[in-house]
Amino acid sequence: MNKRITNCLNIFTFSFTVIAFAACSKSDSSTPILPPDACAGKIISITTTPEAAKHCSSDGSIDIAVTGSTNFTYKLNSGGTYQAASKFTDLAEGAYTVFVKDGAGCEKSVAVTVGSGGTIGPLFTAVKDLVTTRCKSCHNNALANGGMNFEIECNIIKSKARIKVRAVDEGTMPQTGALPQSEKDVISTWITAGGTFTN
Ligand code: HEC
Repeated sequence: MNKRITNCLNIFTFSFTVIAFAACSKSDSSTPILPPDACAGKIISITTTPEAAKHCSSDGSIDIAVTGSTNFTYKLNSGGTYQAASKFTDLAEGAYTVFVKDGAGCEKSVAVTVGSGGTIGPLFTAVKDLVTTRCKSCHNNALANGGMNFEIECNIIKSKARIKVRAVDEGTMPQTGALPQSEKDVISTWITAGGTFTN
């Protein structure tokens, strides 16, 4: 509370009107977002350090460092929620906006790209080939039986647990007859190694 009053007095010093001062001193449980001119120069710089995600996996992250004010909280994208931790993890490759807010409610944002790391691995290449030959006739863009479209390679990675259950453990896929052991092993070996794009 003392802090908020101090902030408002600072704003007042920079020639804000009495109305602005009154609005600013109105107290509620959430920190208000102050207008940009009241926040000018408050957050000096945001430095983001993204770590790439493997293609089709959500193992990327963004580390955030800020200088120029105090009591920062951090939010990922406009729909996110402010949090105390300055790192976001479990991110897929793609474009993000990092928002930072200081204790006075001054907010700033920067665009960050989480890249895609690594190249396709030999075990996943073998699984992709197997799925193309054995599964794609019934699991493709036009015909996604059981909600599975394996024409999109990320779907093979995301659905690997179900692929293992149906094609390896139960042997109930392909619907036309179970895979030979050597082909079940291709799937198991890839999943045991990590089941990612780069394995
Ligand atoms: C001849 C057609 C056909 C082929 C070939 C085929 N499937 Fe299926 N698949 C289906 C049908 C129909 C369903 C939906 C009914 C069901 O779940 O049994 C299905 C559903 C699935 C599901 C989703 C249901 C669940 O249990 O989560 C998975 C996973 C799956 N198949 C994996 C595979 C894999 C892996 C292969 C190749 C090794 C394969 N399928 C080959 C016809 C096929």
